[in-house]
Amino acid sequence: MDKLVIEGGYPLSGTVGIHGAKNAALPILAASLLANGEVQIRNVPNLLDIQVMIGILRRLGCNVSYEQQAVKVDASTLSTTVIPEDLMKQMRSSIFLMGPLLAKYGEVTVYQPGGCAIGERKIDLHLDGLRALGAEIIEQSEQITCRASRLTGADIHLEFPSVGATENIMMAAVLAEGRTTITNAAREPEIQDLQRFLNTMGAQVIGAGTDTITITGVKSLQSCSYGIIPDRIVAGTIMIAAAATRGNVTLTGCNPGHISSLLHVLRRAGVQINACNDIIKVSCMTRPKPVGRIVTSPYPSFPTDLQSQVMVLLSLADGFSIMKETVFESRFKHVHELNVMGADISVDANAALIRGVPRLYGATVEATDLRAGAALVIAGLAAQGRTVVEQVHHIDRGYDRLELLFQSLGAKMLRQSVVPEELDFAN
Ligand code: EPU
Repeated sequence: MDKLVIEGGYPLSGTVGIHGAKNAALPILAASLLANGEVQIRNVPNLLDIQVMIGILRRLGCNVSYEQQAVKVDASTLSTTVIPEDLMKQMRSSIFLMGPLLAKYGEVTVYQPGGCAIGERKIDLHLDGLRALGAEIIEQSEQITCRASRLTGADIHLEFPSVGATENIMMAAVLAEGRTTITNAAREPEIQDLQRFLNTMGAQVIGAGTDTITITGVKSLQSCSYGIIPDRIVAGTIMIAAAATRGNVTLTGCNPGHISSLLHVLRRAGVQINACNDIIKVSCMTRPKPVGRIVTSPYPSFPTDLQSQVMVLLSLADGFSIMKETVFESRFKHVHELNVMGADISVDANAALIRGVPRLYGATVEATDLRAGAALVIAGLAAQGRTVVEQVHHIDRGYDRLELLFQSLGAKMLRQSVVPEELDFAN
């Protein structure tokens, strides 16, 4: 098992480019099954979750290549619509294959998906949406089979603006007969990216980015070439790391409009931010200020995927802040680890009270999920002394070799399978 070993206390500095968004690439890779012909998807990040999705597409019989951040998918050789259970359990996003397979081939069998242990993560809204489009759904313990000879457009209201359910319904409805309207739809930038991708293949989808999405079904979709948007959560993670280490970092190839809620919080914390076109400059020379209360909620509010990282910055602030998590019920597992590093955070139900401390101290800690792991890396970069972050495979799901990225900004950080007595950080 890999570990990240970090010698903390060095301000990050330099320029870094932002890779494509995992959470846009995953549904778009699934949607590539809808095309008649080869689809090329550019700016696809090299992450564990992406490798799992490519593995599933190959096991379904698709011809898939992945070179220089470009994935080519040819689904004309597809030989089964049963998602392999072992791969399904590795990643929640395998659920995205339901909509496209059902729409194009009339049948799909999946298993209850795995993924980060951050809450119950039900799939009822996905299944209700597909049922509304006319699918018959048979659930037998862990196995779920959906069938429909032809889907039919419907009006679907989501009780909660679920990102995944919105995407699954969009992907199913593009080949349905007639019009589908999704109300209370999720508005995340990744939904807009999916709409653009589907429309590039010839679909008729409008409204992504608002809470009402309308899809007019078409007979077929064609091959295309498409580039994924930059990863707003990776951009946010780097910005927070820059601020927590009192560094000075320039991010290129990002979209500041996708993280305006984070920019607002960082500015309240006293972090200097200069955003222009696709460039963001971040610097922080003094101890962060407390920010009062942050509540995570669906876009455009503060993202749950940056909650743990921001908590590290606030744990170093000169005063109290409160973080309320409303999206996932078990997303405070990093709190215990941060407290091991000297933070002073207490949790009451879905709210964390963060009392700022002057400094964190290096320790051996465990990444319990993807974003919790990213937060511990930031804490390690800012802390005094050496931090070892274990269970790095969680971090690899969403960051492309995070140690190389931070090394390029001057961090003293190494990946180790076994930690030797003395590490040579001079090399
Ligand atoms: N929910 C239901 N029923 C459903 C679907 C969702 O009750 O059928 C609940 C979930 O249990 C959760 C809430 O709704 O409490 C939000 O879930 P949502 O469906 O919006 O999230 P998701 O599609 O499972 C995506 C991202 C997550 C991100 C959330 C929220 C992808 C691949 N994943 O998950 O990303 O946190 O939206 O923005 O797009 C991450 O990257 O670290 C990550 C977890």
